[in-house]
Amino acid sequence: MAVIPVTTAGGAYEVRVARGLLGRAAEECAPLLRKREAVIVTDANVARHWRAPVEASFAAAGMASHWFELPPGEASKSWAQLGALLEWLLAREVERGDAILALGGGMVGDLTGLAAALLKRGCRFIQLPTTLLAQVDSSVGGKTAVNFGVGKNLVGAFHQPALVLADLSALDTLPPRELRAGYAEVVKYGVLGDAEFFAWCEASGAALLAGDAAPREHAVAHSVAAKARIVAADERETSGRRALLNLGHTFGHALEAATGFSDRLLHGEAVALGMVLAARFSARRGLMATAGAERIAAHVAASGLPSELSTLGLACDGRTLAAHMLHDKKMDAGALPFVLLRGIGEAFLDRSVEPSEVAGFLDDEIGRGMAGRSEPS
Ligand code: GLY
Repeated sequence: MAVIPVTTAGGAYEVRVARGLLGRAAEECAPLLRKREAVIVTDANVARHWRAPVEASFAAAGMASHWFELPPGEASKSWAQLGALLEWLLAREVERGDAILALGGGMVGDLTGLAAALLKRGCRFIQLPTTLLAQVDSSVGGKTAVNFGVGKNLVGAFHQPALVLADLSALDTLPPRELRAGYAEVVKYGVLGDAEFFAWCEASGAALLAGDAAPREHAVAHSVAAKARIVAADERETSGRRALLNLGHTFGHALEAATGFSDRLLHGEAVALGMVLAARFSARRGLMATAGAERIAAHVAASGLPSELSTLGLACDGRTLAAHMLHDKKMDAGALPFVLLRGIGEAFLDRSVEPSEVAGFLDDEIGRGMAGRSEPS
């Protein structure tokens, strides 16, 4: 088992990475539970695969488990479901010293984390992430939120979990498309700060996606360790270091908005294409070599992720996409910080990007496909 410590002002905890952790959830969580019972939030899809082993683990330990099952999907990450969950937790008489378990992907983790942050002014929670995206990104670092009004994650809190159990067996039951989307966040750690890890992804990504256990464990443990270092240095995204984790997210956010935050483009797919666009935009600004940007695009495409804007069939132009970015929650005093690249593994935050420059670039990217994928002039 890999154990990665995360140390922040808001809390210190372990991320444990191994196969079989859910089947021994009671044993792993017991030191953090004060009562002979567990309160567990999940969604109906995850419950189909993982409720029975988790329930059995608590039953074998002589503990009851109480379940709150959300409807699957991003629509559940809502103010209404947050209210329903809080009411249920209050009815169950969950106290400040108790720990709530979040079993599932990003939606379950983000919603449960926010409920834990609010309940009785803050109680503990344990993340049991079951998607690759949640294991390498959203379950670590304490960002919790629900979607609100026009935007994603607009209402939330920083609230660190007390423990994260990343069970690699959970990846076996993921639909391949969702696994690939989570893999985009793995590649992101290489592109933003670790050229050697990016080269490892190029060499081992296919085996990871095909189901090999060793590269899966390495990818999750390495990504979590990278995130732990960043979060320890900048828990609340104030110094610019944590903001580097948003590589690909500003372009990606615009693409998600243009596709209606729907299954047409999963978050991880938007991040993959967003990373390619950030790299090509950096190359266009003369910051990195075009060959470096195309190397990223080639690995994204080889991983079955979208690497060309033209393939999305968007019915809008660069100006409309750039306008979506202005609603991004990362807006800072009227400017939108972009994560750009000086090379693979060398991300930095640039506050000088004008929306009109991005719009022109995106028009060229849309045209690039129409012109038979020729290089933009
Ligand atoms: N997912 C980006 C972050 O945790 O900062």
